[in-house]
Amino acid sequence: MSKATAVANPNIAFVKYWGKSDETLNLPANPSLSMNLAALTTITTVEFRPGLRVDAVTIDGRPAVGESFDRVVAHLDRVRSLVGITARACVVSRNDFPAGTGLASSSSAFAALSLAAIRAAGLDLDEPALSRLARLGSGSACRSVPAGFTLWEGDSDGTSFARQVAGRGHWDLIDVIAIVAYQHKRVGSNNGHSLAPTSPLHEARLAAVPGWLKTVLRGIQDRNLDAVGSCMEADALAMHGVMMTSVPSLLYWTPETVSVLQAVRSWREEGMGVYLTLDAGPNVHCLCESADALETEKRLRNLAGVQDVLVSGAGDGVRPVAYHLF
Ligand code: PMV
Repeated sequence: MSKATAVANPNIAFVKYWGKSDETLNLPANPSLSMNLAALTTITTVEFRPGLRVDAVTIDGRPAVGESFDRVVAHLDRVRSLVGITARACVVSRNDFPAGTGLASSSSAFAALSLAAIRAAGLDLDEPALSRLARLGSGSACRSVPAGFTLWEGDSDGTSFARQVAGRGHWDLIDVIAIVAYQHKRVGSNNGHSLAPTSPLHEARLAAVPGWLKTVLRGIQDRNLDAVGSCMEADALAMHGVMMTSVPSLLYWTPETVSVLQAVRSWREEGMGVYLTLDAGPNVHCLCESADALETEKRLRNLAGVQDVLVSGAGDGVRPVAYHLF
C-alpha cells in the first residue's frame, strides 16, 4: 500500500438530481446531467497506515469532525471492504473554492477521495466502477468521474453511474458563478434529498424531467444554448420549488439570489445569451458561451450583494497526480 493523490472538479447539473429512490445506495429519483467545472478543484491525498488506530481526516487545513468526518470514514470503509484491508488512513483534502455554499463541493470531494483511496489501497477501477463508488459517497460525485459533460442514469447499484456524453472541448460553455454568500448551508443536500417526497411538487417535477433531459442532451449535441438553458433554468426553479414546499421547507435563497435572478432575466430580454441554475445554496450559476463570459462577469460584479465571481469552462474527469499533500 502506498500514498496516492487525486484531483477532481465539481460539476454543475443542467438537469438536477433531487430525491433518492434508495437512500443507502444513493440511487437517484431521476437521471441527471452535468458539466465538470475546470476552474474549481479538490485535491485529496490518502495513505493507509497499518499502525494508525483511527482514520485521520483534514479538510481545508482543519481536522474534519461530525458528519463530514463520518462520511469520509464510511467511504474509506467501502474501499477497505472492496480491497479486503483493515488499515486506517490518513486523508488530507483541499478545495480551492468555498465548500458547502451550493458549489457542489461534495461532488469533487467524493470523486477525488474515491480515486485516491482506491489507488492508495493498490487497486485500479475502470471508470464506471469508480463512478459507482463515488456515487455511494455523494450521489452527484459520480458525475465528476468522467470528463466534460456527463449523464448519470441507471436504477440499480450495478447500473447507476455516470458516463460522458460530450468531451470538455465539445462546447465553449462557461459557468459564471455569482457568489452572494459564503456561509455553510444549514441543511446539506445529502440530508435534503429525503425531504423531496414530502413536497406536492416532487412528482410533477419528476414527470417533467424526461422531456428536459431529452432537450438538454440534444441541445448539447447541437451546441444550442437556448435549448439547454431554458430547460436548465426551468428545472433549477422546479427543484427549488420542491425544496421550498417540502416539510420542513428548505429555502436556500437570499435577497441577493433573487436580485441576480432578476438581473439575468433582464439581460436576456436585452438579447444576451445567459441562463441560470442553482444547486442547494444561494449562489447563482450563470451559463453562457465564451463570447459572452466577460460581459456576464462584469455585469455580475456590478450587482449589489455579489461578493465575488468565479468563471469556469468545462473540466476534466477525476485524475491521479504525482505529488502529495503530505
Ligand atoms: O450529491 P448530493 O447529495 O450533494 O446532491 C446534489 C444535489 C444538487 O446539487 C442540488 C443537484 C445536483 O444534481 O447536483
